[in-house]
Amino acid sequence: MNYVACVAAAWASSNNKRISHCKQTARQKKLSMMISRAQQGPAAAATQSQTHSTISSTSTPAAESMNSSSSTPSSSSSSNNVAVIAGVVIVVVVLLAVGLLVCVCIQRRRRNGYGYKSSLRKRKSQGSIKEVMSSIMSQQGKLAGLKDVHVFTFKELEKATENFADHLILGIGGFGTVYKGTLKNGMVHVAIKISNHVSTSGKKQLLNEVTILSQLNHRNLVRLYGCCLETEVPILVYEYIPNGNLYEHLHRLRFGVNLNWSKRLQIAAETAEALAYLHFAAFPPIYHRDVKTANILLDNTFTVKVADFGISRLVNPGKSHVSTAVQGTPGYLDPEYFHSYHLTDKSDVFSFGVVLLELLTSQKPLDYKRELESHSLAAFSIPYIKNGKLDQILDPQLKDVPAVDFQLMFPAMQSVAELAANCLANKRKDRPTMKDVVEDLYSIKAFGKRQAAAAATLG
Ligand SMILES: Nc1ncnc2c1ncn2[C@@H]1O[C@H](COP(=O)(O)OP(=O)(O)O)[C@@H](O)[C@H]1O
Ligand SMILES: [Mg+2]
Repeated sequence: MNYVACVAAAWASSNNKRISHCKQTARQKKLSMMISRAQQGPAAAATQSQTHSTISSTSTPAAESMNSSSSTPSSSSSSNNVAVIAGVVIVVVVLLAVGLLVCVCIQRRRRNGYGYKSSLRKRKSQGSIKEVMSSIMSQQGKLAGLKDVHVFTFKELEKATENFADHLILGIGGFGTVYKGTLKNGMVHVAIKISNHVSTSGKKQLLNEVTILSQLNHRNLVRLYGCCLETEVPILVYEYIPNGNLYEHLHRLRFGVNLNWSKRLQIAAETAEALAYLHFAAFPPIYHRDVKTANILLDNTFTVKVADFGISRLVNPGKSHVSTAVQGTPGYLDPEYFHSYHLTDKSDVFSFGVVLLELLTSQKPLDYKRELESHSLAAFSIPYIKNGKLDQILDPQLKDVPAVDFQLMFPAMQSVAELAANCLANKRKDRPTMKDVVEDLYSIKAFGKRQAAAAATLG
């Protein structure tokens, strides 16, 4: 899902709002000037209109001749003045009414926050959502039905999120805005995602997530509590994961948290476990299709919860690939899938390779500040890894430990970097499976522990 495009759209729309607001303010100023002029009384208005007519009469010979042909100049000018005053008053009244109407509209929009919030209130016939739901179910046909999906009322969710208040926004992804909500008199925290798209594809995306997530149960996958189908756009309700996403931690968007090497290795291993579960334990298997650090959530103990199954695919068991349009996030996208339209489990493996690089370097998956050929983190990092220069691209925070500790940890970092390079192989047949990756990561962890224990007995 294109996060950049989403942010750009959000900005464009907020800027548009600002622009129209400025125009409105200018118009309002103009209006109040006109009102104060009108309030100065008919004489002032007459003087002004005369001044205006003088300018126009001097400019048009036709008007001049009309003025000169008038038999009683003073009475005709006073009746002209009355007409002009009446005209001005009418214009002022009309403008005032329009201004008032615009003000009311702006106030309403502000109260509603985002435009889509108002669309939430438009309760459409529920048929459309149910139709989309049944079309997903029949396409993916293998699901018997939705298990354990609680259906929330819109009123409940409005109350839980203080009417979708901006200060409760947890994150904005490519498809939805996620709010923190509180249910049952403050007893249960939840995360509530509303699609930003009123389009059928936006609805499908969220409902796809419902059908997939409701079937899954793994300690490293976010849990879906339920959904609300009353509104024009579907709303999903998940367990609340309190510690943000991995992207925010690695790119220092959260303050005061140091993700040390041992935490990063644990996060890598748990994410790999979740993906291996999707590929090998879930039935039918699932390809996540949007593996990235923004979709890896962390709880208070830094336990991983993989989220966002909006574009995930259920796979016919035994099939080598799914032929499907390319979707995913630039920087994480498997090049073979991009060229062949064949989505496989190895597409998730490729994206996971980029996540490993982010864990090692804390660099962005796509960064236009890097040289042209190194915009993608994969292209940037591989030459360093292959030439034994990993230390040159490591996150400085990882090096910010006593030298002896760093020496102990560095071999594990190198092994993870080599594993990342394998995941990023151009051809999918050369990439490991997620099962292999899990094994490798746990043996790297175990090796690190043995090293540390040996050093402790020696020291
Ligand atoms: N269950 C949750 N608990 C806490 N925060 C969440 C939860 N789900 C999502 N978020 C936040 O919202 C962001 C966007 O959510 P995501 O499901 O990825 O939406 P999208 O489908 O639009 O990409 C995440 O990166 C995360 O910061
Ligand atoms: Mg997302």
